[in-house]
Amino acid sequence: MMEGEWESFLRQLTPEKLEELLRSRDYIPSRDLLMALYLALKLGKPLLVEGEPGNGKTELAKVLAEALGTELIRLQCYEGIDASQALYDWNYPKQLLAIRMLERSGDVESIEREIYSEKYLVKGPLLRAVTHRGPKPPVLLIDEIDRADEEFEAFLLEFLAEFQVTVPEIGTFRAERRPIVVITSNRTREVGEGLRRRCLYVYVTYPPKEREVEIVMRRVRGAERRLVEKAVDVVARIRASQEVLKKPGVSETIDWVQGLQALGYRDIDRRALEDTLSCLFKAREDLEAVSLDDLVGG
Ligand SMILES: Nc1ncnc2c1ncn2[C@@H]1O[C@H](COP(=O)(O)OP(=O)(O)O)[C@@H](O)[C@H]1O
Ligand SMILES: [Mg+2]
Repeated sequence: MMEGEWESFLRQLTPEKLEELLRSRDYIPSRDLLMALYLALKLGKPLLVEGEPGNGKTELAKVLAEALGTELIRLQCYEGIDASQALYDWNYPKQLLAIRMLERSGDVESIEREIYSEKYLVKGPLLRAVTHRGPKPPVLLIDEIDRADEEFEAFLLEFLAEFQVTVPEIGTFRAERRPIVVITSNRTREVGEGLRRRCLYVYVTYPPKEREVEIVMRRVRGAERRLVEKAVDVVARIRASQEVLKKPGVSETIDWVQGLQALGYRDIDRRALEDTLSCLFKAREDLEAVSLDDLVGG
């Protein structure tokens, strides 16, 4: 069999090239994340990315799809999500319309055949992932799996073993190529053993100063390095505080620097901090737990 475009791309991929691809889209991975993603691609396994909110888990999947020039298919998990929401639904209004049109001419069987055909199928993310056709597999992002319950997780586990979806009225859809799967968890619930075993795993945490400065410099247009370094230091102090529960992630640092910029601050003093607290603190209790003077060191 002739080697496809995707297969030869994968064969030639090195960790350095992958890093370059991510960086070209302003994503700065840690070494751990880069290697885990690289191996997940090489081995064709899902990657489970776990860690605090705001540390680039969702963004990784988005940037990866962009960098590879392929489709991003997102399954956002939430409390109470069930398999049917992830798989497919029927377009009832369109089916009803068709029934009305066909009522006079057709018999029941031919009407049924018509309205339960692919034309009336509303594909959910998982069905879209297995019916995707193209030179490259899509990136399937299963976001915030910790918000779904264990039953849904078990269903996903089955899906990840087969990469196929059966619609009883139509038949079974099977993926031509396995999608690239990125699963994220904010750890509000422990993800089960089965899913962990099926995936490669990486834990993301707050980046060290140098990397966070680089991320912010790339993500905020016209940011001044001196201001960014100071902001990163202050954020690190907030994260270090035992009392703060909702710790600011990288996304908060980015918002904060943008906020400071929007107000024309070029340095961070007590007033600058007070005016921009909304970017950093997302709970009243946390605001009360810190001393603003300590944070700006004055
Ligand atoms: N390593 C990184 N490189 C570039 N940007 C990052 C990185 N980590 C976080 N970010 C920024 O932080 C924002 C929030 O990240 P996100 O992926 O939404 O967090 P999570 O999904 O972990 O809660 C992103 O939009 C991006 O701007
Ligand atoms: Mg996210």
